[in-house]
Amino acid sequence: MSEYLHGYVQTEYERLLHQARFLEQEVYPFIDLTHCSHLLEMGCGVGAQTRILLERFPRLHITAIDRSAEELEVARQQLPQDLQHRVRFVQADLLHFQSEEKADAAFCCWMLEHAAEPAAILRNIRRNLKPEAHIFLTEVENSSLTVAPQSAALDAYWEGYNRLQLHLHGWPFIGQELEQLLQSAGFENIQVLPHPMHYGHHNTERLKDFCAYWWRLINSASEPLLKGGYINEEQHRLSREHLLNLHLQPDASFRYTFVQAKARSGNK
Ligand SMILES: C[S@@+](CC[C@H](N)C(=O)[O-])C[C@H]1O[C@@H](n2cnc3c(N)ncnc32)[C@H](O)[C@@H]1O
Repeated sequence: MSEYLHGYVQTEYERLLHQARFLEQEVYPFIDLTHCSHLLEMGCGVGAQTRILLERFPRLHITAIDRSAEELEVARQQLPQDLQHRVRFVQADLLHFQSEEKADAAFCCWMLEHAAEPAAILRNIRRNLKPEAHIFLTEVENSSLTVAPQSAALDAYWEGYNRLQLHLHGWPFIGQELEQLLQSAGFENIQVLPHPMHYGHHNTERLKDFCAYWWRLINSASEPLLKGGYINEEQHRLSREHLLNLHLQPDASFRYTFVQAKARSGNK
């Protein structure tokens, strides 16, 4: 079984590209890299965030790091020609990565949740930053999910999904721990901002799109979930039906809170 919950497969690469655009308006208001010229992107995957970062911050040059050679190849291919010269893709484990020169900032989105040793990774990244450099983290907090009306099948799916991620040495509730992790890695001026999302019939279109996005997210782990006995076929089918039809129910709502944090590397 892959150590990466969603697997290194083509459908996952497409999902990551869709996800980054779909959540762009939620994630980026917190990220300010206007004054940064050299950014370390931690766990760039297929370069979905890399492209958004380059478009949003025209001065930026990025060292984009991932352990997956396959994903980096997709990242190289999907990046438009006119942005290529501003990125260096590096295959490395973030635990041991060493930058040729120290960077002005680091960016990490939906990555620490998949890392077996998030505290050690943050310590290593801090060593690769200039004094007073910024770090921006965006992470999951899976205990925050509330879907109404409730579904026993979806509850079981979500419980199995989180259990599988824990089994793979991941961190489905890591949003709660960002402050403590940054502190233990030596970062200073830490600010944590939970980002609640609440969709209901005040915005039915977004509710519908969000539930479809969510199904794509949790379905991407369905193979190991089914194979490992974390869920059964019936729970898989009912969860899909529930999410894709939620917007048709009069009292429907979907709530989830992800967590962002920013900090400085300090005057080392
Ligand atoms: C969910 S993907 C997110 C990719 C990208 N940040 C995005 O938002 O589209 C997580 C990525 O982290 C990478 N990753 C996990 N642990 C890593 C480590 N220790 N070193 C380098 N990359 C790692 C995985 O290979 C995967 O590409």
